[in-house]
Amino acid sequence: MIGAVRTIATRRLPGPAFDELPDLAIVPLTELPASPGVAALVVANEDVDERVLDLLPDLRLVANFGVGYDRIDVAACRARGVGVSNTPGVLDAATADLALALLLAAARRVVEGDRLVRAGGWAGGWSEGALSPELTGSTLGIVGLGRIGTAVARRARGFDLRLLYAGRTRLPQEREAELGVEWRELDDLLRESDAVTLHVPRTAATTRLLDARRLALLRDGAVLVNTARGEIVDEEALVRELVSGRLRAGLDVFWEEPHVPEQLLPLPNVVLTPHVGSATVAARHGMTRLVVDNVLAVVAGGEPRTPVL
Ligand code: DGY
Repeated sequence: MIGAVRTIATRRLPGPAFDELPDLAIVPLTELPASPGVAALVVANEDVDERVLDLLPDLRLVANFGVGYDRIDVAACRARGVGVSNTPGVLDAATADLALALLLAAARRVVEGDRLVRAGGWAGGWSEGALSPELTGSTLGIVGLGRIGTAVARRARGFDLRLLYAGRTRLPQEREAELGVEWRELDDLLRESDAVTLHVPRTAATTRLLDARRLALLRDGAVLVNTARGEIVDEEALVRELVSGRLRAGLDVFWEEPHVPEQLLPLPNVVLTPHVGSATVAARHGMTRLVVDNVLAVVAGGEPRTPVL
């Protein structure tokens, strides 16, 4: 393609650092032509597969704008000697804040209340049946206690929640005590929690981690929060649980974004946001900074700052 282009980004990223990308062209993946000479590809949670890699024979880095890189074929990149980088660390606070916001909104019926007020229904009041459970003293299960899950735990302690966690590895006891968390097998965590929040990456092992059987373990009225990846939950099974009214949910992520299952749209027991876990100015600008630093390092012949390989 364009002679001197060294970097292709699929879109403009927020923040001033973006303008430091060297010899840049902005090209959506669907319109990508064969582009010899391009050393770095910047994507934002998009499918980078053999087709894309074939078009970029001189590629040295796929720099993802986001911490989750589940849509990049890492094995194919590795086989071709192409590096992959992501943006860890800078979005933990923002994503943890959103998880808490969704938990509070879903548990305390914030969106229902907002709709009631706007529809002029306040004067009628709320019936006894519309009262919320008290959050204080209830149990929050955190699935995945990595950086974001830990940031959620720290915030949740301020709400006097009892904290359980499940994950691949159990933390040392001192660390559990410091965070105020108790370890459980996933099934036990689901049975014991009043609310569950997901913070695992999407891998083959975590796809449909919460299948119909596991969703059925959740208590009646439990809140499920997902700011991680839609694919971690069996979406059809979740829709059934939500349509039945048995569970409540705060969902930021979905299987076929930006498509949201139609049956969810009228439900009062679901709060829906458009994948905005990292959408604060500080987080998004920090993500762009990391993307650019990774590209600059590789174009200069070095290693990316935050590689995933
Ligand atoms: C992430 O960082 O993975 C967010 O989900 C944005 O894609």
